[in-house]
Amino acid sequence: VIAVVYERYGPPEGLRLADVPKPIPKDNELLIRVHAATVNRTDCGFLRASPSIVRLFAGLSRPKKTVLGSEFAGTIEAVGKLVTTFDVGERVFGLNGVTFGAHAEYMTIPESGLVAVIPARVSYEDAAPSSDGAHYALCAIEAAGIRAGHAVLVNGASGAIGSAAVQLLKYFGAEVTAVCGGKDIALVKALGAERVIDYTEEDFTALDDTFDVVFDAVGKSSFRRCRSLLKPGGVYLSSDLGFAAQNPFLALVTASSRGRRVLFPIPRARKEHAVLLRDLMEAGRFAAVIDRSYPLDHVIEAYHYVESGAKTGNVVLRVAEAR
Ligand SMILES: NC(=O)c1ccc[n+]([C@@H]2O[C@H](COP(=O)([O-])OP(=O)(O)OC[C@H]3O[C@@H](n4cnc5c(N)ncnc54)[C@H](OP(=O)(O)O)[C@@H]3O)[C@@H](O)[C@H]2O)c1
Repeated sequence: VIAVVYERYGPPEGLRLADVPKPIPKDNELLIRVHAATVNRTDCGFLRASPSIVRLFAGLSRPKKTVLGSEFAGTIEAVGKLVTTFDVGERVFGLNGVTFGAHAEYMTIPESGLVAVIPARVSYEDAAPSSDGAHYALCAIEAAGIRAGHAVLVNGASGAIGSAAVQLLKYFGAEVTAVCGGKDIALVKALGAERVIDYTEEDFTALDDTFDVVFDAVGKSSFRRCRSLLKPGGVYLSSDLGFAAQNPFLALVTASSRGRRVLFPIPRARKEHAVLLRDLMEAGRFAAVIDRSYPLDHVIEAYHYVESGAKTGNVVLRVAEAR
């Protein structure tokens, strides 16, 4: 089985294609023949062990799991004997979190994980990037209790998390003000934002408007700078730890505050998220934004592009082409 492996933490040059044993599904698992995956910021963080706290999960001196890739789309090749809700041959997409394994021809995932059937008209390449950014966005939306009519500002609306957040916030009925660079303004408007601010032209933190929620989906602001944008009782959320890991700290400090507060939700992969995303894809209400798509043997280039911080939406890896 061909896989992209890494044996030490470091830059993308440490990645190489190798032949690895085909995984064997446990009784509660699906064996998936991967067609497409993504390279996302979690893969990049685990590749370099950055931030260093990653080593606590991934292995102190070297990675215990040598195949990265958390998002996938593929076909079920076999199921464990306790699996009841999926069948061999079904096309599925999902997120394997930090269990990884999608940068390979075959991977396994528990039946109860964030995995669902791909709607008929959606391709593997379109389905693969539909779970990670959306999962982070859904966790944030749920943690902040965002409802119809809430005014929400999304900073970094052109990123993987941000572009999913704008679409999902529209689905939940929020009024979205989005912040992105000039090249993505038309796209972000088309995703459903009422108003789009070009961060290269205007400092959104100087706006006179106030919001129920400010969601920094790219980790480029701070609670201090966004405080004046929040209504009384408003929430600041960030997908990033922030300078000196201030966001989890501020979330603790402001937890019992009745005033403006910080939330730093720990994302938890949930089956319901996969099911919601499948339904929204089927109804044409959610479609992951894809910037570039690379064949598996261009994986190093793909990582460099994701690490550049300039991607719009997602970067796909075409795994099936390796066969
Ligand atoms: N996706 C994940 O798996 C994941 C997981 C955990 C944590 N995170 C964290 O969440 C954050 C977002 O991840 P992501 O993958 O969604 O991001 P991303 O896709 O890499 O974000 C890139 C986008 O952000 C825009 N951007 C850059 N600087 C900006 C600024 N100052 N203001 C507004 N927009 C800006 C870029 O536009 P321009 O090119 O025009 O600058 C680009 O379109 C990162 O901090 C990451 O570490 C991500």
